[in-house]
Amino acid sequence: MSQARLKIEVAQAALAHVDAGMVLGVGTGSTVNAFMDALATAKIPLKGAVSSSDETTARLNAMGVDVLDLNHTGDLSLYIDGADEVDGHRRMIKGGGGALTREKIIAAAAREFICIVDETKCVNVLGEFPVPVEVIPMARAYVARQLVALGGQPALRDGITTDNGHLILDVRGLDLVDPVSTETAINQIAGVVSSGIFARRGADRVLVATETGVESR
Ligand code: 5RP
Repeated sequence: MSQARLKIEVAQAALAHVDAGMVLGVGTGSTVNAFMDALATAKIPLKGAVSSSDETTARLNAMGVDVLDLNHTGDLSLYIDGADEVDGHRRMIKGGGGALTREKIIAAAAREFICIVDETKCVNVLGEFPVPVEVIPMARAYVARQLVALGGQPALRDGITTDNGHLILDVRGLDLVDPVSTETAINQIAGVVSSGIFARRGADRVLVATETGVESR
Protein backbone atom coordinates (compact mmCIF):
# COMPACT_ATOMS: atom_id res chain seq x y z
CA MET A 1 0.00 0.00 0.00
CA SER A 2 1.33 3.48 -0.78
CA GLN A 3 2.06 5.93 2.02
CA ALA A 4 -0.68 8.19 0.63
CA ARG A 5 -3.17 5.30 0.89
CA LEU A 6 -2.07 4.56 4.48
CA LYS A 7 -2.68 8.22 5.36
CA ILE A 8 -6.22 7.96 3.98
CA GLU A 9 -6.84 4.75 5.97
CA VAL A 10 -5.76 6.29 9.28
CA ALA A 11 -7.63 9.50 8.51
CA GLN A 12 -10.84 7.55 8.02
CA ALA A 13 -10.26 5.56 11.23
CA ALA A 14 -9.95 8.81 13.18
CA LEU A 15 -13.51 9.76 12.26
CA ALA A 16 -14.81 7.21 14.77
CA HIS A 17 -13.51 9.49 17.55
CA VAL A 18 -15.25 12.64 16.33
CA ASP A 19 -18.64 13.46 17.83
CA ALA A 20 -21.25 15.69 16.23
CA GLY A 21 -21.44 19.11 17.89
CA MET A 22 -17.90 19.12 19.27
CA VAL A 23 -15.25 21.81 18.93
CA LEU A 24 -12.36 19.92 17.38
CA GLY A 25 -8.68 20.82 17.43
CA VAL A 26 -7.21 20.24 13.98
CA GLY A 27 -3.50 19.87 13.23
CA THR A 28 -1.48 20.47 10.07
CA GLY A 29 0.05 18.35 7.33
CA SER A 30 -0.81 15.85 4.63
CA THR A 31 -2.26 13.25 7.03
CA VAL A 32 -4.49 15.88 8.59
CA ASN A 33 -5.47 17.05 5.11
CA ALA A 34 -6.64 13.49 4.42
CA PHE A 35 -8.53 13.61 7.73
CA MET A 36 -10.24 16.87 6.77
CA ASP A 37 -11.23 15.34 3.41
CA ALA A 38 -12.72 12.35 5.26
CA LEU A 39 -14.52 14.68 7.67
CA ALA A 40 -16.02 16.64 4.79
CA THR A 41 -17.22 13.44 3.10
CA ALA A 42 -18.68 12.08 6.35
CA LYS A 43 -20.50 15.40 6.93
CA ILE A 44 -20.18 15.17 10.75
CA PRO A 45 -21.60 18.53 11.91
CA LEU A 46 -19.10 20.28 14.21
CA LYS A 47 -19.78 23.23 16.46
CA GLY A 48 -16.47 24.49 15.13
CA ALA A 49 -12.75 23.86 15.00
CA VAL A 50 -9.58 25.37 16.41
CA SER A 51 -6.90 25.39 13.75
CA SER A 52 -3.14 24.95 14.13
CA SER A 53 -2.10 26.84 10.99
CA ASP A 54 -3.18 29.25 8.28
CA GLU A 55 -3.09 26.33 5.81
CA THR A 56 -5.51 24.27 7.90
CA THR A 57 -7.71 27.32 8.51
CA ALA A 58 -8.09 27.82 4.74
CA ARG A 59 -9.14 24.19 4.25
CA LEU A 60 -11.60 24.31 7.17
CA ASN A 61 -13.10 27.53 5.81
CA ALA A 62 -13.48 25.92 2.38
CA MET A 63 -15.34 23.02 4.06
CA GLY A 64 -17.72 25.45 5.75
CA VAL A 65 -16.41 24.67 9.26
CA ASP A 66 -16.38 27.63 11.66
CA VAL A 67 -12.81 28.29 12.79
CA LEU A 68 -12.91 29.45 16.42
CA ASP A 69 -10.47 31.37 18.59
CA LEU A 70 -8.99 29.17 21.34
CA ASN A 71 -9.35 32.14 23.68
CA HIS A 72 -13.12 31.73 23.41
CA THR A 73 -13.56 27.95 23.40
CA GLY A 74 -12.05 26.85 26.70
CA ASP A 75 -10.30 23.47 26.70
CA LEU A 76 -11.04 21.17 23.78
CA SER A 77 -12.34 17.64 24.14
CA LEU A 78 -10.29 16.34 21.21
CA TYR A 79 -7.28 17.29 19.10
CA ILE A 80 -6.31 15.32 16.00
CA ASP A 81 -2.90 15.79 14.39
CA GLY A 82 -0.11 13.94 12.60
CA ALA A 83 3.57 13.60 13.52
CA ASP A 84 6.96 13.24 11.91
CA GLU A 85 8.07 10.55 14.38
CA VAL A 86 6.36 8.76 17.26
CA ASP A 87 7.86 6.36 19.79
CA GLY A 88 6.34 3.54 21.84
CA HIS A 89 5.50 5.95 24.69
CA ARG A 90 3.40 8.15 22.35
CA ARG A 91 6.04 10.88 22.41
CA MET A 92 6.58 12.66 19.11
CA ILE A 93 8.64 14.92 16.95
CA LYS A 94 6.36 17.36 15.14
CA GLY A 95 6.73 20.54 13.16
CA GLY A 96 7.93 19.29 9.80
CA GLY A 97 5.19 21.52 8.43
CA GLY A 98 6.33 24.44 10.59
CA ALA A 99 3.17 24.64 12.70
CA LEU A 100 4.73 23.32 15.93
CA THR A 101 3.93 26.21 18.25
CA ARG A 102 0.21 26.38 17.57
CA GLU A 103 0.14 22.58 17.56
CA LYS A 104 1.75 22.54 21.00
CA ILE A 105 -0.74 25.09 22.32
CA ILE A 106 -3.72 23.10 21.07
CA ALA A 107 -2.26 19.85 22.41
CA ALA A 108 -1.88 21.51 25.82
CA ALA A 109 -5.49 22.71 25.78
CA ALA A 110 -6.95 19.39 24.63
CA ARG A 111 -8.27 16.76 27.00
CA GLU A 112 -7.50 14.07 24.40
CA PHE A 113 -4.80 14.18 21.72
CA ILE A 114 -5.08 11.53 19.02
CA CYS A 115 -2.04 11.29 16.77
CA ILE A 116 -2.63 9.82 13.31
CA VAL A 117 0.33 8.35 11.43
CA ASP A 118 1.32 5.72 8.95
CA GLU A 119 3.74 3.05 10.13
CA THR A 120 6.77 4.76 8.53
CA LYS A 121 6.61 7.34 11.36
CA CYS A 122 7.03 4.81 14.20
CA VAL A 123 10.50 4.61 15.81
CA ASN A 124 12.09 3.05 18.89
CA VAL A 125 14.00 6.23 19.81
CA LEU A 126 13.13 9.70 18.55
CA GLY A 127 15.74 11.67 16.67
CA GLU A 128 16.24 10.48 13.13
CA PHE A 129 13.98 13.35 12.08
CA PRO A 130 15.58 16.74 12.89
CA VAL A 131 13.93 18.59 15.78
CA PRO A 132 12.31 21.84 14.62
CA VAL A 133 12.83 24.77 17.00
CA GLU A 134 10.84 27.97 16.45
CA VAL A 135 12.86 31.05 17.41
CA ILE A 136 12.41 34.80 17.68
CA PRO A 137 14.39 36.20 14.71
CA MET A 138 16.79 38.37 16.78
CA ALA A 139 17.74 35.32 18.88
CA ARG A 140 18.52 33.01 15.93
CA ALA A 141 22.32 32.96 16.28
CA TYR A 142 22.25 32.89 20.10
CA VAL A 143 19.79 30.01 20.16
CA ALA A 144 21.84 28.15 17.54
CA ARG A 145 24.95 28.41 19.76
CA GLN A 146 22.99 27.09 22.76
CA LEU A 147 21.68 24.18 20.69
CA VAL A 148 25.25 23.34 19.67
CA ALA A 149 26.15 23.36 23.38
CA LEU A 150 23.37 20.78 23.89
CA GLY A 151 25.02 18.57 21.26
CA GLY A 152 22.87 19.53 18.29
CA GLN A 153 23.63 20.70 14.77
CA PRO A 154 21.09 23.42 13.95
CA ALA A 155 20.32 24.53 10.41
CA LEU A 156 18.09 27.45 9.50
CA ARG A 157 15.05 26.32 7.50
CA ASP A 158 15.53 28.36 4.34
CA GLY A 159 12.95 30.88 3.27
CA ILE A 160 10.46 29.99 6.01
CA THR A 161 8.67 32.39 8.31
CA THR A 162 6.14 30.72 10.57
CA ASP A 163 2.50 31.81 10.85
CA ASN A 164 3.67 33.57 14.04
CA GLY A 165 6.40 35.57 12.22
CA HIS A 166 9.33 33.55 13.55
CA LEU A 167 12.15 31.39 12.16
CA ILE A 168 12.77 27.65 12.40
CA LEU A 169 16.04 25.91 13.20
CA ASP A 170 16.05 22.20 12.30
CA VAL A 171 18.36 20.43 14.74
CA ARG A 172 20.10 17.14 14.04
CA GLY A 173 22.17 15.09 16.46
CA LEU A 174 20.35 15.82 19.74
CA ASP A 175 20.31 13.04 22.32
CA LEU A 176 16.63 12.09 22.62
CA VAL A 177 16.95 8.97 24.77
CA ASP A 178 15.23 11.10 27.45
CA PRO A 179 13.08 13.41 25.29
CA VAL A 180 11.38 15.08 28.29
CA SER A 181 14.77 16.34 29.53
CA THR A 182 15.83 17.55 26.09
CA GLU A 183 12.48 19.26 25.54
CA THR A 184 12.83 20.97 28.92
CA ALA A 185 16.43 22.06 28.20
CA ILE A 186 15.46 23.60 24.86
CA ASN A 187 12.49 25.37 26.46
CA GLN A 188 14.93 27.13 28.85
CA ILE A 189 16.87 28.88 26.05
CA ALA A 190 15.96 32.57 25.79
CA GLY A 191 14.48 33.28 22.37
CA VAL A 192 13.01 29.81 21.86
CA VAL A 193 9.28 29.95 21.20
CA SER A 194 8.79 26.18 21.23
CA SER A 195 10.38 22.95 20.07
CA GLY A 196 8.94 20.11 18.04
CA ILE A 197 9.62 17.60 20.81
CA PHE A 198 6.19 16.60 22.13
CA ALA A 199 7.24 14.50 25.12
CA ARG A 200 6.05 16.45 28.18
CA ARG A 201 2.59 16.38 26.60
CA GLY A 202 2.56 13.40 24.29
CA ALA A 203 -0.42 11.86 22.55
CA ASP A 204 -3.10 9.98 24.48
CA ARG A 205 -3.69 7.59 21.61
CA VAL A 206 -1.80 6.88 18.42
CA LEU A 207 -3.63 5.47 15.42
CA VAL A 208 -1.13 3.75 13.13
CA ALA A 209 -1.97 2.69 9.59
CA THR A 210 -0.17 -0.55 8.72
CA GLU A 211 -0.37 -2.89 5.75
CA THR A 212 -2.76 -5.08 7.73
CA GLY A 213 -5.05 -2.39 9.16
CA VAL A 214 -5.17 0.57 11.52
CA GLU A 215 -3.84 -0.14 15.03
CA SER A 216 -4.68 1.86 18.15
CA ARG A 217 -1.66 2.20 20.44
C1 5RP B 1 3.20 19.93 10.99
C2 5RP B 1 3.30 18.62 11.67
C3 5RP B 1 2.79 17.43 10.95
O1 5RP B 1 1.89 16.76 11.76
C4 5RP B 1 3.93 16.53 10.59
O2 5RP B 1 4.91 17.27 9.87
C5 5RP B 1 3.48 15.33 9.75
O3 5RP B 1 3.08 15.77 8.49
P1 5RP B 1 2.50 14.78 7.40
O4 5RP B 1 1.17 14.31 7.88
O5 5RP B 1 2.42 15.63 6.15
O6 5RP B 1 3.48 13.64 7.22
O7 5RP B 1 3.78 18.49 12.78
O8 5RP B 1 3.85 20.95 11.71
